[in-house]
This record gives sequence, C-alpha cells and structure tokens, in this order.
Amino acid sequence: MKFTLSVIKADIGGYPGHSGMHPALMEIAKRELNKRKGGLLIDYCVLHCGDDLELIMTHKKGVDNKEIHKLSWDIFLKCTKEAKKLKLYGAGQDLLKDTFSGNVKGMGPGVAEMEFEERKSEPVMIFMADKTEPGAWNFALYKMFADPFSTAGLVIDPNMHGGFTFEVHDLFESKKVLLKCPDEIYDLLALIGQPSRYVIKHIFRNSDKEIAVSTSTQRLSLLAGRYVGKDDPVMAVRAQSGLPAVGEVLEPFSFPYIVAGWMRGSHHGPFMPVGFEQATPSRFDGPPRVICAGFQLANGMLEGPTDMFKDVSFDLAREKANEIADYLRRHGPFEPHRLSADEMEYTTLPDVLKKLKKRFRKI
Ligand code: F6R
Ligand code: MG
Ligand code: MG
Repeated sequence: MKFTLSVIKADIGGYPGHSGMHPALMEIAKRELNKRKGGLLIDYCVLHCGDDLELIMTHKKGVDNKEIHKLSWDIFLKCTKEAKKLKLYGAGQDLLKDTFSGNVKGMGPGVAEMEFEERKSEPVMIFMADKTEPGAWNFALYKMFADPFSTAGLVIDPNMHGGFTFEVHDLFESKKVLLKCPDEIYDLLALIGQPSRYVIKHIFRNSDKEIAVSTSTQRLSLLAGRYVGKDDPVMAVRAQSGLPAVGEVLEPFSFPYIVAGWMRGSHHGPFMPVGFEQATPSRFDGPPRVICAGFQLANGMLEGPTDMFKDVSFDLAREKANEIADYLRRHGPFEPHRLSADEMEYTTLPDVLKKLKKRFRKI
C-alpha cells in the first residue's frame, strides 16, 4: 500500500515577535486537521519550531495533491485571521498570494512530501528549522547519505553500499540535476557547498531508486523579490533497513555547523539542535534552531512524535552552539557574521545604501 507523507509549514504570526507560536494557532490547526482524519487524511500531527506552524499529514492522495494543499492553505488562512485578532507579530507573513491556485508551492508555505510503499517497519524523522534557509539541510544530508565517517552503514551495510543519488535544485535558475554518489561526490560538493543557491531536494537509494528524503526548497525572497523572513525549511527522512539508521540520521547534528539566517535573516550562526520545548529562538532572534520529530508509520498512522533532540547526547552540541554564537556575536555588523553582500541584497540593507549613494565622489 502506497502512502504519502506531507509536511507543509508557514509562519503566519509570531508570539512574541518572531520567537514562538501562540497556542491558539496550534489549536485551530489541530481542530481543522482532526475534522479530516479518517477521510482525506489518515493521520496528522501539529508542531511548531519557533514562529513556524508545522502540519505533518499522512494520506493516499500522492504528492502535490490539490485537496491536501487547499486544506493546508485554508488552515493557514484561519490561523492568520486569529493571529490578526491577537495582533501577533507578522500575522500572515508567509502567505504571499491572495487566492489559492491549486498548489501552495510558490505561494509562501514550505512543502516537503514523498510517496512510498510502507515497509514492514517504517521509521521517519521529520526535521523542522527556524531562522535559517532551505540550504541548511545540505551539510547534514551529505553527512547522512555520503560520508562514511558519519554513517557507518555506508561501509558496513551491503544494502547501502551502492550509494545514493542526490537531486539538487538551483534556486536561482529553477533547474535540477541528479548526482550519483559516491561516484560524483566531488561534483555534489561543488554545488551544495553554496547552500544559498543549490539545495538538495530529494535523495534516492541507487540499488532500487527508493526515495529516502524530501525537503522544502522555496526561497521566499526569490518568490517575493524582497525580504519576507527566512524560509525556515522542513525535511522528511526515512530510516533503517538499508537506509541510514535513526542514529545515523541524527548524527550530523551533533556538530552545530554554521548556517545563514538568525537576526533579520542576515547573519551566520550555529545550527542548534533542541527539544520541542526549546524551539523558541530568543538571543538575537536565535540562534537558528532545528527540532526532529520521530515517528513509526503503521498503515499510515503516525505513531509519535518522539522528541529526538531532547536527548542528553545533544547537550554538548547545544553547549558548543552557544559558544559559537557568543564568538560570532562579538563581530557585530562585520562579515562573516553578517552575510556576504550578494546575500544581503534580499534584506533591507540596500535601502540604507541607496541613501548614501549620492554622497559618493570619484577618487
Ligand atoms: C529572522 C526574523 C527576525 C526579524 C527581526 C526584525 O528571520 O524574522 O529576526 O527579521 O525580528 O523584524 P522587524 O523588521 O519586523 O522588526
Ligand atoms: Mg516570523
Ligand atoms: Mg520562522
């Protein structure tokens, strides 16, 4: 039996500021999804990471389904109405269009979906981030599916030995390329080392083309042509039995690598893995957070969530992230804490520079 896992998210208002989620919005989302459970939906789970509302849904409609996308869009609209009533910050921030046109892609919300045959046992990890961009998954996904120093199964498990194919999207040119690894890992790294432009969208196992990963790849600034907040991406990863084990899926996050985002979407900062309760970016609107909800699928039912980063084994990563945050903050408005000039184009900095332009004289 084929099932579809859809993770659709949007920032439709923060509480307070851009730091968290008002419980009233979570309640609306749960109530609306519950009405469709047993009908359009098999099961659902509502979570939040910072100011982003995360709808996790299972169904049999396939990816890019109009009914599923419409349901999500309508929930975001309902939540926006409540957010406006409560005067939450940036109410309706991610809803870039007025009317629904069949698919939420390109309208603001982030989408990660995949359809697959449920295995004898189907563990899935849903990652959700706040205060960063879609390319933030690149580093972790490379470690998970291409680096044997991180994922032991690439060496030890004969079912993984054939490697994985990475589907990489160029967000500026709207083009995609498939790279078969390990043969093409250098080509892969040449692209994904620039996460502001090249983003891993899907990963497939080479031996049987089985899908293992789906991520959200929209960049709000590229859609809207201006800064509208960072994109705060999500991703779904299947684990075990010839795919990285749950522990191998989580392992890359033990290193709080640097991502773009944080304050005003304009700064580099450490990617900090936290439990659900700590998904509340505060210091300098951050540092960027990632949570992971673990589920076992049972005929499409979502057994879970388990709060995967709550575990003490990620305490050191958090400590390290706080140290790095402190170190980077000392740079104030200087690069490389502040993003490079081409990335700053999508912020409010160009407006400031415009004002100064007429005062420049030839040297
Ligand atoms: C980052 C983010 C926040 C805001 C910041 C300023 O993605 O959303 O860091 O950029 O709080 O917000 P405004 O300009 O609305 O006061
Ligand atoms: Mg926000
Ligand atoms: Mg956010």
